[in-house]
Amino acid sequence: SDINLQEVHDYLVDVAKQAGRIVTAARPSTTAAGEKKNSVDLVTETDQATERLITDLVHQRYPHFEFMGEETYQPGDSLSPRPTLICDPVDGTTNLVHRYPYVSISLGLAIDRKPVVGVVYNPFTQTLFSAAKGIGSFLTDPSHDHVRLPLKDPEPLALDKALVAVEWGSDRAGHDYDIKVETFRNLCASPEEGGAMVHGIRSFGSAALNLCGVAAGHLDAYWEAGCWAWDVCAGWVILEEAGGQIVDANKGNWHPRIDERRYLAVRKGERQNAFIEELWSHVAGDLKVG
Ligand code: IPD
Repeated sequence: SDINLQEVHDYLVDVAKQAGRIVTAARPSTTAAGEKKNSVDLVTETDQATERLITDLVHQRYPHFEFMGEETYQPGDSLSPRPTLICDPVDGTTNLVHRYPYVSISLGLAIDRKPVVGVVYNPFTQTLFSAAKGIGSFLTDPSHDHVRLPLKDPEPLALDKALVAVEWGSDRAGHDYDIKVETFRNLCASPEEGGAMVHGIRSFGSAALNLCGVAAGHLDAYWEAGCWAWDVCAGWVILEEAGGQIVDANKGNWHPRIDERRYLAVRKGERQNAFIEELWSHVAGDLKVG
């Protein structure tokens, strides 16, 4: 295609920063504007206003792009192979509502349903992760000026030394919920208990920032089932351009689609495939979502 990815990247960085001003000015309460499916699936007026701003700005510059966004998604909508801006205006809505500053604006471009540009911006810490396919993946924040990811020379991947991000998600009952709980237990438990005894598991509450944490090398892996294409599209390119890999949260599928809703991301490093197999061996069953 004749789309200049670097140019799209630069424009989306600008859009994310403008969107960031709405997000940091917001004063949402713990009673959010709308609850989508239950009392923990939150949406605020900020999410909706931010998505409108992003759509307007992107349409002005790229009128031919399709658009998929968390707040305008309708069940049954499917991802087109045409160039599509996939956006989560506020990834980490629960954090925003509680004023925990781990929140991002996540803007991804997919072509042929594959992520090719990604911008993830935390406006509270002014942390910007971004990437374009073939160009690399970068971090700019108050202490780094456009440094390439990963930040350090990665050590070989080892499960018993790993820091792993997971998320509980907003479905708190049923088959997949039980598999998550059991998988978290397996990752943490000592070998006598049949576990992997990773250094720790973390649940920070933004899928996009979790993927960027893996891209940077702060986290060794991130496992989640139940999030959506807009949670992962931007972070996906950032991770891949940093030498990381993203596979299915269910064992066996090395090439999941971006909208399959089950993800296991691992950082760059020796033993990457072996590490994925080891993580999979602790997944407590087949997740149904997706
Ligand atoms: C959520 C966050 C959270 C993840 C959920 C997502 P939202 O996105 O990324 O970490 O566990 O699955 O839906 O709702 O804050 O945009």
